[in-house]
Amino acid sequence: MFILVNLKTYPCDPVAVAEAVADVDETTDARLAVAPQAADIARVADTGVETWAQHVDPIDHGSNTGHTLAETVADAGAVGTLVNHSECRQKLADVDGAVRAAERAGLETVVCANNPSQVGAAAALGPDAVAVEPPELIGTGTPVSKADPEVVEGAVAAAGSVDDAVSVLCGAGISTGEDVAAAAELGAEGVLLASGVAKADDPAAALSDLVASQ
Ligand code: G3P
Repeated sequence: MFILVNLKTYPCDPVAVAEAVADVDETTDARLAVAPQAADIARVADTGVETWAQHVDPIDHGSNTGHTLAETVADAGAVGTLVNHSECRQKLADVDGAVRAAERAGLETVVCANNPSQVGAAAALGPDAVAVEPPELIGTGTPVSKADPEVVEGAVAAAGSVDDAVSVLCGAGISTGEDVAAAAELGAEGVLLASGVAKADDPAAALSDLVASQ
C-alpha cells in the first residue's frame, strides 16, 4: 500500500514528521511519502523521505506571479504532486493542465476527486493515480473505508473502466492500520491522509500503527 501523508497547513514540524516517516519506512514494505507545503519541500526532501507537492499550477515558465511551477517543486526534491485536492479545487481544464505540467517536470501525479463519477473523469486525464475523498469525511476521524465503503469500491470500478493503469487511493478520516487494511480490502492501492499523523501527539506512533497491517 502507498501511504501518502498530506501535511496541509497544519502547525506541525514538517521535518520532524518527515524524520518519523523515514524511520517507519525502514520497518515496512508499505510505500510512504510526505506532502509538505511548497516552501518546506526542500528541507523535507533533505531528510531522504519520499516528498510530494500538495499542488502545482497548469503553467510553464513565464509571467505567473504567485503560482507554483512543477519544475520548481521537482528541483526542490518532490517526486510527485497532488492535483485538485478538495481544499484546492481546479477547473477540469486546469486539472488537465496541471497533470501535463507535472508530467513535463517528471512528477508522479495523484488527482483527487469527491466521488466515483469524478474519479472516472480524473482517470481519463491519464494521471498515475486518483484519490477518492468524500469532503464531508475529511478531518473527521471517521474513515471513508468504513463509513463509505461503496464510494471506494465505486472509485475502483470507475477508474478501472476508464484506464486500468490508473491506481486508486482513498482518503478522509484514515488514521489506523485497520482503516488502511479496510481500504486495501475494498481494492484501493493506497491511502491519502493528513490529520491522523499531522495532528497526532506522537506522529511516529501513529505511522507505526498505520503500517501495522502491511
Ligand atoms: O489529503 C488528505 C485529506 O484530505 C484527508 O484528511 O485529515 O481526513 O486524513 P484527513
